[in-house]
Amino acid sequence: MFERMLVGKIENRITVGLISFMLIIVFLGWAAINEGGRMAAFQQMENARSIEQGATLFASNCTSCHGMDGRGLAGKAPGLNNPMLFGHDFFPDVTKQISDLNDEAKNLTAENNTAGTTDARKTEITARLAEITKTISDLDAKRTADVQAAVAKGYDPTGVKYDRLQELGWGGTVDNFILTTLIHGRPVSGNYWPQAMPAWSQTAGGPLRTDQLQNIVNYIKNFDKGDNWTLDDLYAVNQFPILPKDPAPYIAQINGLIASGGDPNKIKPVGKDVKAIAVEIAKLTGDPAKGEQLYHGKTNAALAGGVLPCGSCHGQSSTVVGPMTDGTYTRATNERLKVPQFTGFTPEEYLIDSIVNPSDYIVPGFTDLMPKNFGTELLNAQDLADIIAYLKTMNQ
Ligand code: HEC
Ligand code: HEC
Repeated sequence: MFERMLVGKIENRITVGLISFMLIIVFLGWAAINEGGRMAAFQQMENARSIEQGATLFASNCTSCHGMDGRGLAGKAPGLNNPMLFGHDFFPDVTKQISDLNDEAKNLTAENNTAGTTDARKTEITARLAEITKTISDLDAKRTADVQAAVAKGYDPTGVKYDRLQELGWGGTVDNFILTTLIHGRPVSGNYWPQAMPAWSQTAGGPLRTDQLQNIVNYIKNFDKGDNWTLDDLYAVNQFPILPKDPAPYIAQINGLIASGGDPNKIKPVGKDVKAIAVEIAKLTGDPAKGEQLYHGKTNAALAGGVLPCGSCHGQSSTVVGPMTDGTYTRATNERLKVPQFTGFTPEEYLIDSIVNPSDYIVPGFTDLMPKNFGTELLNAQDLADIIAYLKTMNQ
């Protein structure tokens, strides 16, 4: 009896052990199978947290211009909760039809220009090309009329204009577009909006860290409804973005930012620290000819998205608003460096200081009229190096 009980207990223990062992195996197998799933769930949670933090940052920093719901404020700033930002096409069939017509027109034009095309055929081609132009213009007029409520707020469904990134010729992703805009702001946008989009990154003198910017990007990306955008969403946008009348400098600025993606010095304004700037530009080669063009507004400055105003205040050999350009380097060397506050400065450092910290020292007989944002917004290191190289030739 006792023996049987003992055997029974042992058998029981074996059974229990076996069962737990099998359970462990099953659990481990399950865990292994679900590894991917748990990773995804974890990432989803991370992303949700990031979006949540982005929403908080958006509420405190962005809504005054972009609206509580991110749909923009009329006359103030464009909607981001906006199918246009994500390139949604409400008329894909029309887009396809127009693209086919354009292809046909291209082929016909090529045929027209081929030697041996008869005059009769050329007449036919001309008639068909006119028909194509008319059809495209009718299709565009119709889709414009179909979304008139949005068109009134700046939307344009034709061409590639329904897609903000294509409209601007942006080659990168929407993530990069948003992040770049956040980091640097749009210094030139004050030309066509009451207030420019500010720079937000600490690296560009703004208040936010990179991880916070990434959270905001995730929040904005979360507005994207992919294929599920509706016309109601489109009509809910209060303000669509603007393509400036003369978009060239603007696009040059944006393209400059993309092109120099790998080189932060090209995107970054030089700042206001004279000694640090002197070190930075000593590593570059200043081109006096380019500097001359920049100074006299003959070519765009990379960050300004337009030309610099130096020449409009500094006459070449006469005093307009500021000291004349001729002799700038000579005065720097022979006169300004004798001013006690510039003890230990090189002439280059004096010139840098005059440009990025114009209020530090006011040339006698003049007033403090130099713009204050050359260092913080308008000049990158290369442009400043070129301007300094040019001013060094003003040594007569
Ligand atoms: C002082 C007003 C103002 C504030 C505050 C502001 N923005 Fe802007 N933002 C603008 C303006 C104006 C534009 C349009 C710039 C342009 O057309 O180049 C813009 C453009 C943008 C764009 C690009 C949209 C496009 O279609 O080109 C993004 C993205 C953006 N802002 C995000 C933000 C975020 C995120 C914040 C808060 C961290 C913010 N903005 C705060 C005024 C503001
Ligand atoms: C709105 C008019 C204005 C513009 C625009 C302007 N300046 Fe000036 N600049 C002045 C005035 C006024 C002074 C003299 C007062 C002072 O020292 O700040 C001055 C002084 C200077 C000096 C010191 C000259 C000396 O004899 O010591 C330099 C160098 C200079 N500017 C360079 C530039 C450059 C480079 C730009 C363009 C990136 C520029 N300025 C744009 C008005 C202007």
